[in-house]
Amino acid sequence: MSRPLLIDTDPGCDDALALLLALERDELDVVGLSTVHGNASLADTTRNARSLLECFDRTDIPLSEGAKLPLTAELETAEHIHGPGGIRGELPEPTSATEPLEQHAAQFIVEKAREYEGELTLAAIGPLTNVALALAIEPDLPDLLDELIVMGGAAFAPGNVTPLAEANFRSDPEAAARVVRDAEPTIVGLDVTNGANVPGEWIDALPEETALGRSIVEWFTYYSGAQLEQYEYETTAIHDALAIAGIVDEDVLETETYHMQVGTDSDLDRGALVCDATDVTDGKPNGSVALEADFERYRELLTGSVERTLDTLADRRA
Ligand code: BDR
Ligand code: CA
Repeated sequence: MSRPLLIDTDPGCDDALALLLALERDELDVVGLSTVHGNASLADTTRNARSLLECFDRTDIPLSEGAKLPLTAELETAEHIHGPGGIRGELPEPTSATEPLEQHAAQFIVEKAREYEGELTLAAIGPLTNVALALAIEPDLPDLLDELIVMGGAAFAPGNVTPLAEANFRSDPEAAARVVRDAEPTIVGLDVTNGANVPGEWIDALPEETALGRSIVEWFTYYSGAQLEQYEYETTAIHDALAIAGIVDEDVLETETYHMQVGTDSDLDRGALVCDATDVTDGKPNGSVALEADFERYRELLTGSVERTLDTLADRRA
């Protein structure tokens, strides 16, 4: 039986590949998408999410638009990383088939959690504003979900936007603090996602005759040379896809349980994920963090899904 999954997302090149993976695998049944500000403005991330549903031929999946702004922080977007409009590639214009629902994403998340009581997995791969709002509407959200997987944070690795903070957590530190405090998340952060790349030779061999083929190559290579050098990556890390791979196959990630908090005070600590690794506080464990990953299995899942998606969509459009 496939696992019902709702993805809260801010596409985003790595979000696009995470979505491709989730849609291709039979283990998962994507029952909805919700969008949030993040890699670009909400208008752009919503348009990108709609275009992705169109280009994967999955206009049957309901989509709900969420928060335009962080809870209290200023909006900061990442077009310098993902490209103008927050994504690269040649995406189709959205049609009326992917018109967002009337319902706000926070309400949509709560309703889907109630509909699939105890069985829904929520994967949050953007800033946590919608999830924090959903928790404010329904404090029992964690009990209604099977699992909340969050791509975000850097527990023991350095941050990617400040020395301590990862981009999704830094974009809305108050929301991240709320979710980490109250929602028992499984956190898939930079500790593991920094290694979530695929071999350059495999990317180079992808067929580029179709718009989708060319787009996929751009999603896999969205970092500039400067970023690759800065983080000493061989190819771009596809952060969000590792979180989805961990849902497809539970052996992909190894997690540890900690008492955790997210900093919200000073410029230095805003968005920092702090794990009490030595039990020096009397805080109870409130979530888990992925510290090891089976990257071979992850690569197999992602590259296999890309190859099959390209074949299937090429056949369908031939
Ligand atoms: C996270 O930030 C975004 O830019 C990516 O889509 C990913 O969700 C990585 O820090
Ligand atoms: Ca993302």
